[in-house]
Amino acid sequence: MRIGVLNGPNLNLLGHREPLHYGTRTLADIEALLLARAEANGAELTFFQSNDEGEIVDWVQATGDRVDAWLVNAAALTHTSVALRDALAGSDRPFVEVHLSNVFAREPFRHTSLLSDLAIGVIAGFRASSYLFGLEALLRHLATGGETGTGKAG
Ligand code: DQA
Repeated sequence: MRIGVLNGPNLNLLGHREPLHYGTRTLADIEALLLARAEANGAELTFFQSNDEGEIVDWVQATGDRVDAWLVNAAALTHTSVALRDALAGSDRPFVEVHLSNVFAREPFRHTSLLSDLAIGVIAGFRASSYLFGLEALLRHLATGGETGTGKAG
């Protein structure tokens, strides 16, 4: 299984940025945790982070043919980006949406996601572990031929 792991704007600052919301692990820490979990499950990961919406859309377009699924923390783009939504839909690959913080316990504008209805499922609020739970869910979904989850992309 090949999985593209996408991180959106400001997630390059993890470890220093608003630790009460996002915890103290850096993005490199999270990637290392994911790699260990992926290796134990025979999965291959490709990582990408950008602060630029256009670069993210380009990456999804360029990478879609080389991955089986996506693990996505689109950060602020979650709440705003029709372009990313369309790119993920166009890739025709299932994805799990993850958030470090519990977006539903925060400002109302974070309660809306332009991605969730396309996702297999959404995991939010477990800090770095959200990514690990998301990866587990994705691998299980792929291994069972899409029997888990109810999302349209699956
Ligand atoms: C986030 C939540 C978003 O609302 C926010 O803009 C982020 C991070 C999270 O992981 O909790 O940058 O996606």
